[in-house]
Amino acid sequence: MRDLITLSGLSRSELASLITLASARADQLNHGRRHTDELRGKVVTSLFLEASTRTRLSFEQAARFLGADVMTFDPATSSAQKGESLEDTARTLAAIGTDLFVVRHTREDGPTAVALATGIPVVSGGAGRKEHPTQTLLDAVTLQRRFGGIAGLTMAIVGDVVNSRVAGSHLIALPTLGVQVILVGPKSLLPGEVPQGVRVSEDLDAVLPGLDVIYMLRIQKERGADTGFDTDGAYSEAYGLDARRAAMLPSHAVVMHPGPMNRGVEIADQVADGPRSLIEEQVSMGVPTRMAVLAGCLEDAR
Ligand code: NCD
Repeated sequence: MRDLITLSGLSRSELASLITLASARADQLNHGRRHTDELRGKVVTSLFLEASTRTRLSFEQAARFLGADVMTFDPATSSAQKGESLEDTARTLAAIGTDLFVVRHTREDGPTAVALATGIPVVSGGAGRKEHPTQTLLDAVTLQRRFGGIAGLTMAIVGDVVNSRVAGSHLIALPTLGVQVILVGPKSLLPGEVPQGVRVSEDLDAVLPGLDVIYMLRIQKERGADTGFDTDGAYSEAYGLDARRAAMLPSHAVVMHPGPMNRGVEIADQVADGPRSLIEEQVSMGVPTRMAVLAGCLEDAR
C-alpha cells in the first residue's frame, strides 16, 4: 500500500491486518508510548481544501508521533484564494519537499488528482461525497476493540447516506468485513442502488431492536441535502436518535457518529453523551489508525 485513496480492492485480510496494526498502535499510545522515530526525516503535508477538525489534526498528530515533519496548507490564507488549481498547489508543495500528501477536497477525484500531478503517495482525508477511507478504518478499529470482532455485527447507518463519503467507504469495506449493513433514512437521502446484501429501510423504529451498532450521520446541507422535511425538528422526530429510541436498542448496542454532530437534530445530548456512545472513542482511534496508515504507505513507498 503506497496510497490510500479508496478501500475498494482491499481484501478482507488486508483490511483486517490494517485494523490489527492500528489497534496495536492504540495500545502503544494508551501505555504512554507516543513518539517513535519511524518516519524521522520524512515530510507529511496536509492539503485540506475543505473544513476539518478531527481528521486533519489527528493525521498531523499521527505524523508527529511517528517522528515526521508536518507541513500544513491553510486554504484561507494561501493562493488557492487567488485561483490556483489543486494540481498546481500540489506541485508547489511537492517542490518545497513532501514525502506524502493527506488530501481533503470537495472534488471526488481530489486525492487522485494530487497523486497524478506529483507522483507522491497520497492518503485521502475525504473526497467529495465519495470516500473517507480512514474514517471507516478507525470506526472498524473502535468496533473491533469494543466487541472483540467485527464479522456478524448488524449496523444501521442513519440519515444523509447519499451525501456521506463516510457511508461511501463504509459500504465498500464493512460488508467485506462481514458486517450486515442497513441504510435508514427518508427516500431522498438514500442511494438509488446499494451493494449486494445491504438492506434499506425508511422506518427507524422498526430496525432498532435488531441492531448492534447505530451509526448516525449529519445532514450535509452544504452538499445540498434535502431531507424532505420542512424543519430540522420534523426530521428529528422521524430520524433523530433520542432517549426514547435509544431505549429500543438491545442493551449491548452502541451509538457512533463520525462528527461533527448537530446536537438536537440527528442525535440528542443524552444519547451523544450517554453510556452507549462510542463517539469520543472514535476520535481517539483516529490517531493510531492514521499512524498505521501513514507508516504503511511510507514504508511501501521506499
Ligand atoms: C465527516 C466528513 O467530513 O466527511 N466528518 C469526519 O471527517 N469525521 C462527516 C461530515 O462532514 O459530516
